[in-house]
Amino acid sequence: MRIIRTIDYRDMSRKAANIISAQVILKPDSVLGLATGTTPLGTYGQLAAWCAKGDCDFSKVHTYNLDEYRGLTHEDPQSYHYFMRKNFFDKINIDIANTHVPDGSNPNADEACAEYDRMVEEAGYPDLQLLGIGRNGHIGFNEPDDVFSKGTHCVTLTPSTIEANSRLFEREEDVPRQAYTMGVQTIMRARSILVIANGEAKAQAVYDMCFGPVTPKVPASILQLHTNCVVVADEEALSLC
Ligand code: GLP
Repeated sequence: MRIIRTIDYRDMSRKAANIISAQVILKPDSVLGLATGTTPLGTYGQLAAWCAKGDCDFSKVHTYNLDEYRGLTHEDPQSYHYFMRKNFFDKINIDIANTHVPDGSNPNADEACAEYDRMVEEAGYPDLQLLGIGRNGHIGFNEPDDVFSKGTHCVTLTPSTIEANSRLFEREEDVPRQAYTMGVQTIMRARSILVIANGEAKAQAVYDMCFGPVTPKVPASILQLHTNCVVVADEEALSLC
């Protein structure tokens, strides 16, 4: 694991965008694994700005997002489908047909998850997987558990995740209780992984991810075993490291 310490959120976002941009320059038809949440917003904004200037070309890129709330349509403003279009895909020159997010609108969890696994496998798994981290050390929606998960599956969100994500909803009751998420094993298949984190609220999770025991109680800790994982985090998120 390589740790890159940044001054602040802006610096984190630019450095992360640089890594993603380099990936796309070196391999224009890259498969990117993408994440939602507030952490990547600055990274997406920077990439969109470079794309508008002609400095980053996404026309041949394929993307696979980590997760989606179960029960939301693609048009629902709270869905990750909508989030990705609004904050990234609509601002870059990507072919929307090449973008993929688990189908939260399919109530049949087994079918939706198996279909997503098939697509990710067929794409050959991401060249670069971008990850945020939850305050409890979750990646995607892989919550602390007794075992590391494998493929895409349906999860019931923990109260702490529901509370953390409620800031993006009008009321806490509106946060969906379940989600479809890529599994930890699938995430580990990416050829390179870029974790971004900022702010004091992530300090414990970042410390546990980088220096704690490798345990499914902190799903992100397994990234210590990945051979090509970079953590780009600001001073506050690294304050315990
Ligand atoms: C959600 C997402 C994760 C994300 C996490 C942290 O639970 N499923 O992929 O990493 O939130 O979000 P934020 O970046 O807003 O702190």
